Amino acid sequence: MKKTKVLFVCLGNICRSPLAEGVFKKKVIEQGLDQQFVIDSCGTAAYHVGDQPDPRSAANARTNGVFLDHRARQFHRSDFEEFDYILAMDRSNLRNIQSLEGSASDYELSLMREFDPEAKGADVPDPYYGGERGFQDVFDILDRSTAVLLEHILKQES
Ligand code: 4NP
Repeated sequence: MKKTKVLFVCLGNICRSPLAEGVFKKKVIEQGLDQQFVIDSCGTAAYHVGDQPDPRSAANARTNGVFLDHRARQFHRSDFEEFDYILAMDRSNLRNIQSLEGSASDYELSLMREFDPEAKGADVPDPYYGGERGFQDVFDILDRSTAVLLEHILKQES
């Protein structure tokens, strides 16, 4: 069976998108669907390529029962062919991804918070320069947005 491939994208791939990847993976595992999915994350910038998630993001994830296992990589044009769903954390990330788009469009590219029932279409705030509260806010946003994203994907794929 063909797997559904989901990619979360932020700027540095050390704070928001690895957390989105971890939270979404946990939901997929909890529903017994992990064999059906390939889930990854990346950044539009190359500053942190090869780095582990920011320790604040990893600590926040652990507090919320999520284990992050990821090394940062940069978004590449080939990701458009590889992935079925590409989720940008904010408008700046979305614009950066769109600037690399070609003519093929066999994927769905959206803002992560298009799936947030509390603030549809808002940006996932960048917690890099903020305090711990910022990371918990990001976690809460991603927790509810990825739940709706998973429902959306399961509907589309059924
Ligand atoms: P992320 O956060 O895009 O959520 O991973 C950032 C990480 C690093 C930087 C900015 C944002 N930076 O400027 O290095």
